[in-house]
Amino acid sequence: MSDRRVLVLNGPNLNLLGTREPEIYGSESLAEIIDRLTVAGRELGCEIRHLQSNAEGALIDAIHDAMSWADGVVFNAGGYTHTSVALRDAISACRLPVVETHLSNVHAREEFRHRSLLAPVCLGVVAGFGSDGYRIALTGLLNHLERTGS
Ligand code: DQA
Repeated sequence: MSDRRVLVLNGPNLNLLGTREPEIYGSESLAEIIDRLTVAGRELGCEIRHLQSNAEGALIDAIHDAMSWADGVVFNAGGYTHTSVALRDAISACRLPVVETHLSNVHAREEFRHRSLLAPVCLGVVAGFGSDGYRIALTGLLNHLERTGS
């Protein structure tokens, strides 16, 4: 597999992973998750660049910026998943394959989490596998890039 570059983007409140509702989101910190993903990425021939922000605009800017260097995006938009037209528009505009990723199974939770504004413009969705979901999303994204020769 040739060298790929992937943006891993995390949205609001995910900086609190490890202490935030661990019964739902697990006890690993975001730094630990990203460290593990970076190692997994290296083994798959892929460089990971990570950004977390609580601000919608910063997430949009990161997607715009990724257009100039990334092959794809693994994106946990947190609560913005269910509300943000602007993030959906950024995903459509960037034309990069984006994998929507959630630690929890959003469909087994409150009804307002069942709707994603982002999913229809994403390559795929991973939810319910805890922090493993990031690696699953990355593998799916890399396989897609390989398959499509992009
Ligand atoms: C989340 C699910 C969202 O509904 C929630 O708002 C989050 C985290 C997840 O990873 O399970 O902040 O994206």
